[in-house]
Amino acid sequence: MKVAVLGAAGGIGQALALLLKTQLPAGSDLSLYDIAPVTPGVAVDLSHIPTAVNVKGFAGEDPSPALVGADVVLISAGVARKPGMDRSDLFNINAGIVRNLIEKVAVVCPTALIGVITNPVNTTVAIAAEVLKQAGVYDKKRLFGVTTLDVIRSETFIAELKGIDVADVKVRVIGGHSGVTILPLLSQVEGVNFTDEEVAALTKRIQNAGTEVVEAKAGGGSATLSMGQAAFRFCMSLIKGLQGDANVIECAYVDGGSEHASLFAQPILLGKNGIEKVLSVGELSAFEVQARDSMLDTLKADIQLGVDFVK
Ligand code: NAI
Repeated sequence: MKVAVLGAAGGIGQALALLLKTQLPAGSDLSLYDIAPVTPGVAVDLSHIPTAVNVKGFAGEDPSPALVGADVVLISAGVARKPGMDRSDLFNINAGIVRNLIEKVAVVCPTALIGVITNPVNTTVAIAAEVLKQAGVYDKKRLFGVTTLDVIRSETFIAELKGIDVADVKVRVIGGHSGVTILPLLSQVEGVNFTDEEVAALTKRIQNAGTEVVEAKAGGGSATLSMGQAAFRFCMSLIKGLQGDANVIECAYVDGGSEHASLFAQPILLGKNGIEKVLSVGELSAFEVQARDSMLDTLKADIQLGVDFVK
């Protein structure tokens, strides 16, 4: 397996690269690319960790050398939020960065599975899809917006609130990846019951969890370590799918034929070609139906912004 991380010198990129260096299957290749000149040094640093994962670092304007032969490409290149900023405030800078990187992916490793981490995910995934379509290599089974951080936050907060083992908590998060478009399906969490007040408060906390970190870091950036872990979990699931493991299920923001929006975060079964099957979101509570319906205008506008940007 070869995994390429684009944006690898950043807060998320370095945390993710460390986890991949220590835990990718033996014999894997880890390719680190960032515009920052420090990137080959990050790779040298990681290469001193004794695991059978081969690391190479690439810097400069062209990501192509890092992409050769990649099975999985994870993109966290771009700017992160500062206090007072919404994810959509990142659009002006990050839209162009994602477009340029995907243009190279389309040429160098068009069949790789692509995980987009760069915000605003609701829009950057639409940009990626349009660029891949223009290049004639779009495969909706191979493009993912990484929303795993919303899932791990939900698992953590539920376990905290209910005093239960977090390893036993499984939760689906659907919709998109910003504010009201993040919808944890608390009614489906097995073995846990919530009062209406708990559902309202917990949903709000999960939706605002990114801002919780941005404010706590007081201008020093947004979630990097928890996002590194989330991206690592998602990457390992992609790899397990590619390797033919059964029952690999994650939620991700995909072009999965949802009746609600052209891109929608939902549970998917992963396999040798990326998405093996889009799974049902199951039955929603009245609260969740209302929350889903009221997010759709925002989500569709976010998607359209990305489509228009490429056109
Ligand atoms: P960071 O600023 O620490 O790192 C970003 C890296 O991207 C830097 O090393 C920078 O040199 C690099 N970069 C900028 N332009 C580039 C280009 N054209 N080519 C290659 N590399 C380039 O930011 P951080 O904290 O790592 O966040 C990265 C992105 O991830 C942000 O957009 C942030 O909003 C997003 N994010 C997404 C989350 C999610 O759940 N999907 C969660 C948290 C952050």
